[in-house]
Amino acid sequence: MQFFIDTANLADIQEAHDLGVLDGVTTNPSLMAKEGISGDERVRNHYKAICAIVDGDVSAEVISTTYEEMIKEGEELAALDSKIVVKVPMIQAGVKAIRYFSQKGIKTNCTLVFSAGQALLAAKAGATYVSPFIGRLDDISVSGLALIAEIREIYDNYAFDTKILAASVRHSAHILGCAKIGADVMTGPLSAILGLLKHPLTDSGLAQFLADHKRALEQKM
Ligand code: E4P
Repeated sequence: MQFFIDTANLADIQEAHDLGVLDGVTTNPSLMAKEGISGDERVRNHYKAICAIVDGDVSAEVISTTYEEMIKEGEELAALDSKIVVKVPMIQAGVKAIRYFSQKGIKTNCTLVFSAGQALLAAKAGATYVSPFIGRLDDISVSGLALIAEIREIYDNYAFDTKILAASVRHSAHILGCAKIGADVMTGPLSAILGLLKHPLTDSGLAQFLADHKRALEQKM
């Protein structure tokens, strides 16, 4: 499973990259706003800065909601760097735009997906990635992981090339659940990735090892 980080924060992206496990980045307009990035030029420069850190795909979301505007904006974003994936919302104009980009060889990420039917449509349109939001479904007491399993089954039935990018991941248990089901990619915050490495028995075991080593050294003196 590939690990993407879901942020526009350059320090977090750098830290995940330095850990050696980062395969890509996803952003969205809210995450860009959180970093105070606005205005065409600043947005473009920020995407370029992200692309300079990571080796993999970087999702950049269109703000437009009409077909013509999405095409124009998406083509401009894709021209910034070969790592850019144009992120398009699951709306009627978005499905049309995904078909257009796919025929042009421009990578896409169909975002705001909350049902298997939407995921099927995104795959039919030729999306590179589909992003089901598992955390937001959990928030309304619907199992996000069950949706990932449903999409996995459908995509496997027909050998769709579209990759399942489990999004809105909130914690390390989400990551494990996605890995068990066979999501192709997960995107989450740095805290969820770092959560995977934590275990109290690791901490107490290491403290014991170091204490024993220190005592042995002291006895030698
Ligand atoms: C998807 O790519 C989105 O950026 C994202 O995962 C949304 O997650 P949230 O529900 O934590 O905002």
